[in-house]
Amino acid sequence: MSRSPRSPLVAGNWKMNLDRASARHLAAAVVAGRGAVGTVELVLCPPAVYLETVGDAIAGSGVALGAQNMADKPAGAFTGEIAPPMLLDLGCRYVILGHSERRALYGETDADVNAKTRAALAPGLVPIVCVGETLEEREQGRTADVVTTQVRGSLAGIPPAELARVVVAYEPVWAIGTGKVATPAQAQEVHGLVRGLLGGLADASTAAGIRILYGGSVKPDNAAALAAQADIDGALVGGASLKADDFLAIAQAFARD
Ligand code: 13P
Repeated sequence: MSRSPRSPLVAGNWKMNLDRASARHLAAAVVAGRGAVGTVELVLCPPAVYLETVGDAIAGSGVALGAQNMADKPAGAFTGEIAPPMLLDLGCRYVILGHSERRALYGETDADVNAKTRAALAPGLVPIVCVGETLEEREQGRTADVVTTQVRGSLAGIPPAELARVVVAYEPVWAIGTGKVATPAQAQEVHGLVRGLLGGLADASTAAGIRILYGGSVKPDNAAALAAQADIDGALVGGASLKADDFLAIAQAFARD
């Protein structure tokens, strides 16, 4: 494996799962086991209502807190929404944006994701910006086109110094929650494409420092082969992040000597 200038990051997207007690227990179990994953940065993204509970459970541990979504405005009359400064206030460092479930089920467009990405960067949050093609798009040979449009649209107009703080997650929709993981070669091909696109939006050295995560049915038994790819810098884990042992085993696969 080549040495990468990027430090690995493994994030757990708990989606709309768990209750408060189980969220607290899962966070505590991740903290208890985090010694085994070395320098891999761990991020837990619970449902918004459990951010404070999980934040308390991981306080001082080095495990970071992330949200799953947010509004693109700093405050105001937006009933039911959560503002970026509120996430910072609760101790969040990260926020997942443009997840395919938000795009497919709630109609988020690249323009929406772009507005949210800017709104996250402004007060100092680190956005994890998700892109990925559907099965139909892949079968039609449109993967590169779709991912290119999503990356360019979601990250348009963001200056290189700000872009350097963004994390990108490639999550092929057909691999999410299906048990059908992309092969390491399929994932690497798209990660390489994304890094090239980031180079075009900023410059090659900025792109070389941006972490690109893979997501979609990452499990302990497939993580090492993904981690061995040159442009896969970590994972965005759904189902397997709900079990501390599995989440930590995945993180361990991304640890470097
Ligand atoms: P699964 O790991 O359950 O496939 O979910 C991936 C995902 O959507 C993470 O954001």
